[in-house]
Amino acid sequence: MTKEIIIAPSILAADFARLGEEIAAIDTAGADWIHCDVMDGHFVPNISFGADIIKAIRPLTKKIFDVHLMIAPTDAYLEAFAKAGADVITVHAEAGPHLDRSLQAIRALGKKAGVGLCPATPESAIEYVLDRVDLVLVMTVNPGFGGQSFLDSQIEKIRRIRTMIGDRPIRLEVDGGITRDNAGVVAAAGADTLVAGSAVFRGKSSADYADNITAIRAAAEAARAPKLQDNSVQSMRTKESALIR
Ligand code: DX5
Ligand code: ZN
Repeated sequence: MTKEIIIAPSILAADFARLGEEIAAIDTAGADWIHCDVMDGHFVPNISFGADIIKAIRPLTKKIFDVHLMIAPTDAYLEAFAKAGADVITVHAEAGPHLDRSLQAIRALGKKAGVGLCPATPESAIEYVLDRVDLVLVMTVNPGFGGQSFLDSQIEKIRRIRTMIGDRPIRLEVDGGITRDNAGVVAAAGADTLVAGSAVFRGKSSADYADNITAIRAAAEAARAPKLQDNSVQSMRTKESALIR
C-alpha cells in the first residue's frame, strides 16, 4: 500500500530562543508532522529537551507530534510524553531488553507506537514486534546530533524493512541527514515519512522553510512516481478486467 509522503521537520534544528515562532513558521510552511528529538545524554551523547518543552509547544499547532525518544530506559517516561501531547512515541530497539513491553505500553496510553533502529542494528531486531508498531524509524545517521551526513549503508535496510512491512499499516520513517538531494533515494527504497532538521530550518523565514519542505517533498514524490504509475496501471487493469467479467 503506497502512503502519501509525510515531511516531519525536526525542531532540534530550530532556534530554541524563538521556539514558539519556529513552530508556527514550520506549521505555515507546510510541515505535516512536528518531529521532537528527546535526548538524555546517556543513550546518546547529547541532551536536548524533555516532556515539559513538548507540553509548552503543544498548543501552538494542530499538527501530529512525532516524539523520538533517544533515552534509556524509556518505560518510566512514556506516560509523561503521552500527557505532554505526543501523538506518535518512538522508542529505540537498542534502549532496553523489553521492547515488546514498551511498545505495548505506548499503545495502552492511546498513542501510536514507533520503533527506532540505529545504523548498526539489523532489521531483524524488529521482526517479532511488527504487529505492535505503527511506525518504524530508520536512523540514517548515528543519533545524537543534527547536521550530520546521511549514511548510504541504510538504503538497503530501508528496502528490506519495506518488504518486511508488507501490507501492514506501518509508516517507514527515515531520520538523519535527509536533504532534497537524497529524499528521492530513500523514497525509492520505500520510506514514506521523512524527518529533516537542518535541511528544513535553512534560511530565516517561513517562506524559506516552505521552499525547503516543498523541495524535499517534490524529490521524494518524483522518485516514487514510476511505482505510483505502475499501481495506477495495475488498478486500471483490475477495473477493466472487472468490467469484462
Ligand atoms: C538525530 C535526530 C534527528 C536529527 C535530524 O539524533 O534524531 O532527528 O536531528 O536532523 P538533520 O536533518 O539535521 O540530520
Ligand atoms: Zn529524530
